[in-house]
Amino acid sequence: MIMAGNITVMKAGTVIVGMQWGDEGKAKILDAMLEDERFDVVARYQGGANAGHTIWHNGKKHVCHLIPSGILHPDVTNVMGNGMVIHIPSLLKEVDEARAAGGDPDNKLMISSRATIVLDYHIKKDSEGSGVGSTAKGIGPAYTSVADRSAVKVQDILDDTALRAALERFRQKNPGADIEKDWLELREARPKIGHMVNDTAHYLYQQLRNNNSVLFEGAQATMLDKDHGTFPYVTSSNPTAGGACTGCGVGPTCIDDVVGIMKAYVTRVGRGPFPTELGGEKSAEHCEEKTHVLRFELDMFGIPYSLDEKDRPMYEPQDPKILDMLRSNDDFTKGVAMRLLGGEYGASTGRPRRCGNQDLVVANYAIEINGIRHVALTKLDVLDNHEEILVATAYTDPKTGETLDHMPDRRDVFERVEPVYKRLQYGPASEKVAGCTSWDKLPDRAKRYVEFMEKFMDRPIKYVSTAAERDCMIVR
Ligand code: IMO
Ligand code: MG
Repeated sequence: MIMAGNITVMKAGTVIVGMQWGDEGKAKILDAMLEDERFDVVARYQGGANAGHTIWHNGKKHVCHLIPSGILHPDVTNVMGNGMVIHIPSLLKEVDEARAAGGDPDNKLMISSRATIVLDYHIKKDSEGSGVGSTAKGIGPAYTSVADRSAVKVQDILDDTALRAALERFRQKNPGADIEKDWLELREARPKIGHMVNDTAHYLYQQLRNNNSVLFEGAQATMLDKDHGTFPYVTSSNPTAGGACTGCGVGPTCIDDVVGIMKAYVTRVGRGPFPTELGGEKSAEHCEEKTHVLRFELDMFGIPYSLDEKDRPMYEPQDPKILDMLRSNDDFTKGVAMRLLGGEYGASTGRPRRCGNQDLVVANYAIEINGIRHVALTKLDVLDNHEEILVATAYTDPKTGETLDHMPDRRDVFERVEPVYKRLQYGPASEKVAGCTSWDKLPDRAKRYVEFMEKFMDRPIKYVSTAAERDCMIVR
């Protein structure tokens, strides 16, 4: 705690936020930040098991859906904030996985007593079809229960009387809800996670007062924000930086840096407008089909693969057939090539992600809405085989002919805009970004692309990720 005159100056935290439609590699950057600077706490502020955050630890892949991504760092306390919606059986599974991977959830994981529980009813409702292509994890219905005041909270699981009362109240407000499965599961969970439940807002306040540093971890992303994203094709929470305040119970003066994460290109899962999508409507429809998983696409384009012990297809991303597809004149085919090169299949659902060109109108909008000071760029290596990169720097409205250099606020306009592209020459393919760990060694063509974006966004790109593995990272 620092005293300035008679006023206590508290330490302020940093927020990590996705700048596009999710899956930007937020967890990898978070991991790099934990290595680069010292953080004592990672606090997740919204969302639930709809997130899929992948980290590499001791050469192995570890995916967090609910638990904050700092769980495998021995010196970091992980907080699940009040803004989260938590499916307890999924959490128990993740707690076990974290333990098996070397984490210490019993001592290093804290769950807000004010967080909301995702009940069986919410998942059933979500699975009936949300109309937006949700992850079917019960997220939207659970947040609805918060707004209509029927939600069951994490603190309710701490004793039988409170739990029964909360579940009965829920059943009254939601006729047809079967709460008996929840009753059994939640009672069973009590001895396993009861000791992790805490007043986390107060804990975070004390941490900041004691001059400890907090990293606020956002799930999903700016364009999926329920208030600032592409409504109604959004998630039901506020992934934008302001959500850290309400989702963790800290005041705005407790945050002084916001780091925005963006890919070197753009992806989107689920329905909704996406101006720079490769293959447009055809790609959107193709990706919506549940059977169009990785194996289907490999078969569709005749790309060789083998199956691993869990029947998962293994293929070579640099297969000559995939590189040929990238050079195709057909944008849909190019989009599939991008998906295969970037491994763009959902970590939570296995769905193919719609792929598209970089969009700096979206990036500048994210900078504005979140107050981003620094940017982290991920998956730059995926562009290694590109001969040219297309970057949207504005849109045109085909109805009026107008050029828009800022994100339109009207959704009918955003649904019909066409990107205005700056084309950057990007050869030769012999200069690889993949695996590069220093700015000096980064090929010139990649430096030019990074610097072009920095100038356009007027923000420094502090981190550049050059492959999935942990050490493939440039810190500037
Ligand atoms: P991370 O944290 C990408 C998308 C879904 C759907 C919409 C609403 O890994 O970046 P929901 O289940 O939240 O009600 O679905 O939001 N979506 C994501 N897309 N990454 C995510 O999380 C997402 N979480 C939700 O595909 O379009
Ligand atoms: Mg994801």
